[in-house]
Amino acid sequence: MELRPMRSWIHHSRGKVLRQAGAGRKALPDLHEDMLTRQGFEGRDAHLYRRNEPTNWKRVEENADNLDFDGRVLEPTDLTDADGGPLRLFHNPDVSIWVSRRSANMTYSARNADGDELYFVHEGTGTFYTEFGPIPYEPGDYVLVPKGTTYRIRPAGPVNYFLIVESVEELGFADIGPLGRRAPFDPALLYVPTPELDELGDGRNEDGEWPVRIKTLGEYTSAFYDFDPIDVEGWKGDLFPFKINIRDYRPIMSDRMHIMPSASAMFATPSFMVGALLPRPLESAADAEPFPPYHRNMDYDELSFFHRGTALSLEIAPASISVIPRGLHHGLPHAIMENIRKKKIDRTDMEMIFVDTVRALIPTPEVQAARRWEHYSQVRQETPGDGQ
Ligand SMILES: [Fe+2]
Repeated sequence: MELRPMRSWIHHSRGKVLRQAGAGRKALPDLHEDMLTRQGFEGRDAHLYRRNEPTNWKRVEENADNLDFDGRVLEPTDLTDADGGPLRLFHNPDVSIWVSRRSANMTYSARNADGDELYFVHEGTGTFYTEFGPIPYEPGDYVLVPKGTTYRIRPAGPVNYFLIVESVEELGFADIGPLGRRAPFDPALLYVPTPELDELGDGRNEDGEWPVRIKTLGEYTSAFYDFDPIDVEGWKGDLFPFKINIRDYRPIMSDRMHIMPSASAMFATPSFMVGALLPRPLESAADAEPFPPYHRNMDYDELSFFHRGTALSLEIAPASISVIPRGLHHGLPHAIMENIRKKKIDRTDMEMIFVDTVRALIPTPEVQAARRWEHYSQVRQETPGDGQ
């Protein structure tokens, strides 16, 4: 069992506060709850009760704003060239985020010697053809390809969209604590491949060779074969690729208080976590706030990839990518909070993938070109009124 840091019981309260954070707001109707937090939502924190919405800034200078990107305009080389590859969007020494829009069968096999790859399938169906066997994919799938695995992707059609999280450290499942071994998903739901030789003979270049394109130290180099390197007829062990769909994850919730997003982490290393916010009823207890308070997540950058649905009635384009750098306030626009409080919204249909990283994410020039410049206050102004 992994030892957890001891919980701090040294708490003080000064002035006007809610006795139970996130509940009983009617006791302080004119104040906004704002959370300052360390180590995600697991470390020490403070709740501040302030007069104004902390996201209601009049204007911001560069690097003081939440970042918003249009994922639909990103064009990795694999969108138009079968010999192409994914596009890197963000990176730090621990993790990098890529997009692939592969439209045709690969003319090579891939092998990443720099880290594990976690593919999230936003659009498209097809097959990951791995040396452990084929893994069919569909939207909502996570496909985990361990470091060193040789594979190629065979899309069923030209429209595919993958978000790829590349991890230097071994990527495993997040610690689920005392929930039991079958929650929030049953490990029996993992799809684990069985070896199968590729009868199509894919993965060849124009000269008829089978290249294996190896990514090492951030660069690409290739080994060439006269036979298909995906030629495994059997395997055994505890290191293998697999897939699981977000529909197989059953979100943890409480009817009486909002559970912070970090409880929805599915994969984790010591330096980042990956999870999804998924459809579920909202908290219904009369005194419960069905959303997180305004907060500053001081030890994490928060990257979000919008897969499907709406953000509590706010329309967001699929494949929108946002990054909230540490130290910046964020939270739901006030009009949406009021709609929810009046029970005009009692369910969330949002499907959003998050990647929270301990070290700051550095955007590449390619993703900067896809940046949308509307900032938070503009989103708020465009939010429909509270329907009074
Ligand atoms: Fe957050």
